[in-house]
Parts: sequence; C-alpha cells; structure tokens
Amino acid sequence: GTTLGASAAEQGRYFGTAVAAYKLSDSQYVGILNREFNMVTPENEMKWDATEPSQGQFSFSSADRIVNHAQANGMRVRGHALAWHSQQPGWAQNLSGSALRQAMVNHITQVATYYRGKIYAWDVVNEAFADSGGVRRDSNLQRTGDDWIEVAFRTARAADPGAKLCYNDYNTDNWTWAKTQAVYNMVKDFKARGVPIDCVGFQSHFNSGSPYPSNYRTTLQNFAALGVDVQITELDIEGSGTTQATTYGNVVKDCLAVSRCNGITVWGIRDSDSWRSSGTPLLFDGNGNKKPAYTAVLDALNAG
Ligand code: G3I
Repeated sequence: GTTLGASAAEQGRYFGTAVAAYKLSDSQYVGILNREFNMVTPENEMKWDATEPSQGQFSFSSADRIVNHAQANGMRVRGHALAWHSQQPGWAQNLSGSALRQAMVNHITQVATYYRGKIYAWDVVNEAFADSGGVRRDSNLQRTGDDWIEVAFRTARAADPGAKLCYNDYNTDNWTWAKTQAVYNMVKDFKARGVPIDCVGFQSHFNSGSPYPSNYRTTLQNFAALGVDVQITELDIEGSGTTQATTYGNVVKDCLAVSRCNGITVWGIRDSDSWRSSGTPLLFDGNGNKKPAYTAVLDALNAG
C-alpha cells in the first residue's frame, strides 16, 4: 500500500488518528486525514464535559461533525470516552455516591444509545488505575464503589451491543510495571466473571519518563491471551529523526506480531496538532510533510 490506512488494511488492521472537530475546516489537515487514515477518535468531542454540559442536556454537534465526516469518507470511529475521572462537567464533579453513580449510568446509556451502530469500539472506562502501587486511581467515580468499572461495561453493552467495549489506559505498556499487572488482573477477573469486555487500549504516549519498552510485544501478547483484542490507541513518541522513526517502526512490528492487535491510532496528525505543548511526536511535520517516522511506519506495515 501507499498510505497508512491501505497498508494497515492489507494486514487486516486499521490505522487511525485523533481528530479535533474544529480542524475539519483546515484543508491541509483534512487532505491528510482523508488520504491516510481509516479510523478516527474524537480527541475531546465525546467526553463527558462535551456531551452532557448540563445534567440531562446532551450535546452531540461537535462529535457528530467528526462521525459524519468519518462516515462520508469510509472511516470507522472509536468512541472516547464514556467514563473518566477527567474532563467531567462541573455538575458531575460536584456529585458523589449514588447520585454520581446514577449520573454515570445515565450518561453511558444516553451517549452509547445515541451512537448505537456507528461506533467500532468504545473506550468505556479510561485511566482508572493509579500510576504506582497497582491500585485504582482515587476519583469521585472510584469512591462510588469498586464495582463502578464493571457497571460501566454492563451499561455500555446494553446500550450498544454491537460496539467492542474497551478499557483504555497509559503506562500499561511495560509488562513489569505494577500498573500493567493491575489492569491485567482486572481484565482476567472480568473475563472469568463474564463482565462484558472485548478489548484493551494501550495509549502509548512514549517519552523519556515512560519510554517504549522492549517487552511491549510481550505485554500485547499477554493481554490478547486473556481473550481480548488489543489496540494501540493514542500513539505518540517523543524525539525526531532516525531514533524516533525506528521506535515507531518497532511499535508497528509489535502490533503486527500479535494477531489480536487489530489497529493503531496516533494521537494527532501533524506535530502542531499534538496535545503536547512542545516537541515533534507525530508522523507529519507542522507543514503536513511526511517525516522519517511516517516512512518507518509505512514500511513496517508493508513488510508485515
Ligand atoms: O475547549 C476549550 C476552549 O473553549 C478554551 O478556550 C481553551 C483554553 O485553554 O481550552 C479548550 O479546552 C481544551 C481542550 O483540550 C480542547 O482543546 C482544554 O483546556 C484542554 O485541557 C484539552 O486537552 C485535552 C486533554 O486530553 C484533556 O485531558 C487534549 O486536547 C487531548 O489531546 C487529551 O487527550 C488525552 C486523552 O483524552 C486520554 N489520554 C491522554 C490524552 C493526552 O492527554
């Protein structure tokens, strides 16, 4: 293939990017998006603060722009994210206990029902584990009870039985890290008890503090062996030039080596689109030119 999406498709995978609705009027951005990608993740537009700014008042216009663009251009959509401690609307931040639990359930039901049939996979729960200690992250959702995650998954399944339901997190790439083990044990427990989980997303924001680990493939393989798909969901890699390109290529090779790794999404198109305030972590430079990292990814996909 000659594009990321086409080359990934030849390997039975997708290649996606995060998309911001307000950039859909940028012709350079849209040109690259339509040429290269066949999966999109709304970067912010499906989060709780965006979709339910006042309790019970839903707002889907920004997310719809992305979904409509995707459907018109043959791309699928990864929904992000139904339940998360961050980017909650103010009213939800002020809730606790059963009121918050009820609000979460209603939010998941309404959003997943609205998009039923249009979402390939939902990040049902995002970033629920603490960075160290192998324990749950403290949050208002966690304080409603340990079962909030499985309640979220069961609620999402009821609302959209056709979407794959994923748990998504960062710093779960290194097999030896306590956070990775904690998520692994949760997924294993969910599979054993029949909690509806289909996939695990590895955000894969790699930088000097959390570098691409040599056991990344092992991690993907071990999760897949639990009976879930694995996806690389928010990939970006600090650095530049050959070093960055080599790491990007290795990530792609690791995914292709795991049969249940069915797609890769980068967290933005051009370096200037990155959520990071500095650096050059993506596949296209600020002018939309392909970087060495792009070529490394394309070559790895085509060698697969
Ligand atoms: O929409 C407001 C705008 O009205 C206001 O003028 C402007 C002023 O700062 O802020 C705008 O909101 C920002 C929003 O992005 C949209 O651009 C928020 O401040 C900013 O915090 C928000 O950042 C997003 C971040 O998640 C929030 O946690 C990033 O774009 C987004 O890339 C990032 O994505 C996360 C994933 O969802 C989960 N995994 C980690 C990843 C990177 O942090």
